[in-house]
Amino acid sequence: MLRRTIRATDIKSPDELIELLDRHAYLADEGLATAAFLALRMGRPLFLEGEAGVGKTELAKTLAALLDAPLIRLQCYEGLDAAQALYDWDFARQLLHLKAAEAAGITDVGRLEGEIYDRRFLIARPLLKAIETQPSVLLVDEIDRADDEFEAFLLEVLSDFTISIPELGTVKAGTPPVVVVTSNRTREVHDALKRRCLYHWLEHPSFEREVAILRRRLPSCTEKLAEQVAAAAWPAPGRPGQTAGRGRDARLDGGAADAGRRRARPRAGRRHARRGAEVPGGRRGRARQRPARPGTEGERAVRPCVSPPPS
Ligand SMILES: Nc1ncnc2c1ncn2[C@@H]1O[C@H](COP(=O)(O)OP(=O)(O)O)[C@@H](O)[C@H]1O
Ligand SMILES: [Mg+2]
Repeated sequence: MLRRTIRATDIKSPDELIELLDRHAYLADEGLATAAFLALRMGRPLFLEGEAGVGKTELAKTLAALLDAPLIRLQCYEGLDAAQALYDWDFARQLLHLKAAEAAGITDVGRLEGEIYDRRFLIARPLLKAIETQPSVLLVDEIDRADDEFEAFLLEVLSDFTISIPELGTVKAGTPPVVVVTSNRTREVHDALKRRCLYHWLEHPSFEREVAILRRRLPSCTEKLAEQVAAAAWPAPGRPGQTAGRGRDARLDGGAADAGRRRARPRAGRRHARRGAEVPGGRRGRARQRPARPGTEGERAVRPCVSPPPS
């Protein structure tokens, strides 16, 4: 039987998107589905912000799976610059080409220059690759780890999906890729970038949704076990200060996520120190300012990394 490819614009409503995501073992609530649906419909990037483990990266992966499109991932880090995100010339191959031409007795400098700046000597990095690949899903993951300069550059690329390469000319996306930008909010991302996108703050799911996600991802897990796992991740009443994520990380993720968090904190602190005026109080300060969800004050859960069921 032929499988019908779904295009982003084929999806008629947030409810239909919820159903399609569910088929790929991703459970989205109405708010997330509405933001994602509008982003797909309007051809705008989707900006997802939220604590680690709430399903930001996974949504991009699931969108790629349901649209049957390659996922092109740009993992951000401090010091990431435009060249690493766009393209590079393959110097080794260019040199080899010059040597071969020399051996063949070709001495026409103009011709050789033209040849070494041919498309085949260009290595496409994620942004160029996404613009050249149709359809594709571009995941710009953890933009909060990159510097301001990179953010400004990304804003430019996301505005017109055009990249100009001095030696080759301009590359423009026929159909822009589906773009998902994520941030763990270790620092504030500039408003201009958020305005370019459809922004959605991803909350930790409710206990019931959490149980549903566990059962959807691990069909062999009984309702009772899923409830116990979800419950273990929430702090017991009267034990303030116990963070939900720790328990769950230790149980299901071998503590790896916890280690990641320990690494992330001093780094976030450094950044906030640098931008002290811009982000008063840093991440912790902001977390305190955000209104707590009813009945879950102080709770911070980190979702276990579980794999989708085998299809
Ligand atoms: N809504 C969801 N539906 C199904 N699985 C989810 C959902 N949210 C999170 N997960 C699970 O949690 C894991 C971690 O999510 P991830 O997307 O990596 O978090 P982050 O927000 O840090 O990018 C995923 O691999 C997936 O197994
Ligand atoms: Mg992620």
